[in-house]
Amino acid sequence: MATPLWNGRFRKSLNSQINAYNASIRFDARLYRQDILGSLAHAAMLADQGIIDTEDEAAIRQGLIEILAEFEDGRLVPDPESEDIHMFIEAELTRRIGDAGKRLHTGRSRNDQVALDLRLYLRDVCIEIRDDYLAFYQTLIAVARQHLHTIMPGYTHMQRAQPITLAHHLMAYIEMVARDISRLDDCVRRMDVMPLGSGALAGTTFPLNRQQVADILGFSEISANSMDAVSDRDFAIELASCLAIFMVHASRLCEEIILWSSQEFAFIDLDDAYSTGSSIMPQKKNPDVAELTRGKTGRVFGDLMTLLTLMKGLPLAYNKDMQEDKEAIFDAVDTVRLVLPALTGLIETMTVQTERMAEAAAGGFTNATDLADYLVSRGLPFRNAHSVAGKLVRYCLDRDCNLQDLSLDEMTVFSPLIEADVYEAIDLNQCVSRRNIPGAPAPEAVLAALDQAAARFSTT
Ligand code: ARG
Repeated sequence: MATPLWNGRFRKSLNSQINAYNASIRFDARLYRQDILGSLAHAAMLADQGIIDTEDEAAIRQGLIEILAEFEDGRLVPDPESEDIHMFIEAELTRRIGDAGKRLHTGRSRNDQVALDLRLYLRDVCIEIRDDYLAFYQTLIAVARQHLHTIMPGYTHMQRAQPITLAHHLMAYIEMVARDISRLDDCVRRMDVMPLGSGALAGTTFPLNRQQVADILGFSEISANSMDAVSDRDFAIELASCLAIFMVHASRLCEEIILWSSQEFAFIDLDDAYSTGSSIMPQKKNPDVAELTRGKTGRVFGDLMTLLTLMKGLPLAYNKDMQEDKEAIFDAVDTVRLVLPALTGLIETMTVQTERMAEAAAGGFTNATDLADYLVSRGLPFRNAHSVAGKLVRYCLDRDCNLQDLSLDEMTVFSPLIEADVYEAIDLNQCVSRRNIPGAPAPEAVLAALDQAAARFSTT
């Protein structure tokens, strides 16, 4: 085993089991790029401030660029015996360029270094997740646009309630994803703070130019308190929380897709390329993508809970417990990055059984409220109208028919206010198209909402 970087004070090298226990390189190796970019900025600033000389800075720069290139093309692989990626890169640099490499860590601690690397990494990941969110969002909008007139039952308590359209139903998810995107944007804004210069916990005696490092790395701000900066993981918790909320939305949509693709509903057919068969039952076509998404939701909730619990009892400032942050937040971002394209493809390729949806809407007395509203328009107080419509529903249930199947004579027995125009009032297309206020399911209103949604996020 290599001599640890802290060999001065120690008489023994680390027990090899404890070395493995202590190490994070297995999961933090993915930070290599951010670690190197941070070190390049730090070294450039140290030289500009006259803290290291320019030859050393040039050697560090060249060495780090080489190491980065070798990481990228797989020529260099992290040594699993190293404690973490930060130590590995520094040791590798020193192996290559000698003493100049040992000067890189001047005025820096792994505590501010890891805080920087994780912010940089998650900032990059958030850009990718945002793109994936947008692709999902645009797919939902495109599918919704095709179904402005696709009548289906809307449910409460999983009981057919009132007629809506598939476009209106999908628009609900479009709103959820819009909030997910703006929540992510907020999170990134708070992540955009540069912690380097905080040292182990108490800053440093060297005259660092922290703003210069922030400028090089593209941060809008530098952290205002060294103890907070090295011990804060709010940005990871907040991102995990954003992702957990997104997974709630994804999981709810998937639950509906699973129901809708069942033979009992038969509202949609999933594309063969997005479904799986059974090893024993030849007829089966299973909605695995939707089920897996619903299942993976638990992982992301777990990751959030891991992070919250990890941080809740930690005294200031850095504690080694915090090394446990990475697997949780990496798992959350990896999971969401798997979910998004799969779910987008699933929605994009599904076939909608518009007739089945319309039949279901026609069959469940979803126009009973409209019948009551019709009676109200004839002057009956709403409570009485509710009761008359309810009695008509009871009458239909006893005869196994729908409100629109009754003759006018049958209806007028229940109220003399009912006239021939009642059929128009309870026609499902009318029931939907007359719900024409902002936010309601009329095709006109949903089209306006979709146009607004489409214009909401710049796609630059
Ligand atoms: N691998 C460590 C982590 O991820 C780096 C920071 C270690 N700092 C320390 N003082 N031991 O948190």
